[in-house]
Amino acid sequence: MGVMDTIRARHSVRDYEDTPIEGNKLYMLKNLVADVAVCSGLDIQLVTDNPEAFNIVARFGIVRGASTHIAFLAKGSEADEAIGYWGQRIALAAQEMGLNTCWVAIMARKKSKAKLTDGKKVRLGMAIGYGKTQGKPRKTKSVSELSVIESAPAPAWFGAAMEAAQLAPTAMNNQNFRITLRAGGRTVKAEATKTGGWNSVDLGIVKRNFEEAANECKADWRWES
Ligand SMILES: Cc1cc2nc3c(=O)[nH]c(=O)nc-3n(C[C@H](O)[C@H](O)[C@H](O)COP(=O)(O)O)c2cc1C
Repeated sequence: MGVMDTIRARHSVRDYEDTPIEGNKLYMLKNLVADVAVCSGLDIQLVTDNPEAFNIVARFGIVRGASTHIAFLAKGSEADEAIGYWGQRIALAAQEMGLNTCWVAIMARKKSKAKLTDGKKVRLGMAIGYGKTQGKPRKTKSVSELSVIESAPAPAWFGAAMEAAQLAPTAMNNQNFRITLRAGGRTVKAEATKTGGWNSVDLGIVKRNFEEAANECKADWRWES
């Protein structure tokens, strides 16, 4: 399965089976989370046997049945874009391993068994496990709403990378981002079109999806610094 197939197959899953993640899969997942924590320098923890973290009363956005989550710890919002960028790597790798995920802002953070150090708190979570379903595609903004091409025609790889960006999960499915392909067709700018909330996390997630797809196309491109 190529990364584009993985990106197309991933949907947020909110209902999970009782089956815990065990054996080789748990081992792989622990290694994955540990690797991503080292590469990113972020405090990311895999937390098992912790269904209480999803024990909340809310009108929407509730995850049911998940006993495992990934906790992203930070001081305030300072690491938001990095959390999105690195967390989405975990979401895609988990999908490849046959697991389902859902980023979760609405969770019982204080009931997470993640270990708190250095004044950091659980900023965001990701439910992970065996979904009762694989989730389903949702409505998205069009690629033309989400991108600007400074000098047409855009190369083929940009189309693939934009599809990946369009399919990236964003909080409340807001898709508050814009991707600009600069004249010359190699330099790409990604920006949030709204500030605050989870928009920086979303931007990081979108950048990860875009980058994975562009690199799968072996494109010669770079982010605008
Ligand atoms: C930062 C962030 C926070 C999210 N928080 C929640 C949440 O608390 N509850 C929930 O059900 N979904 C949550 N989601 C999932 C989004 O609703 C979902 O990604 C979006 O609707 C797009 O659907 P898809 O992931 O199936 O493509 C969150 C997503 C992101 C990126």
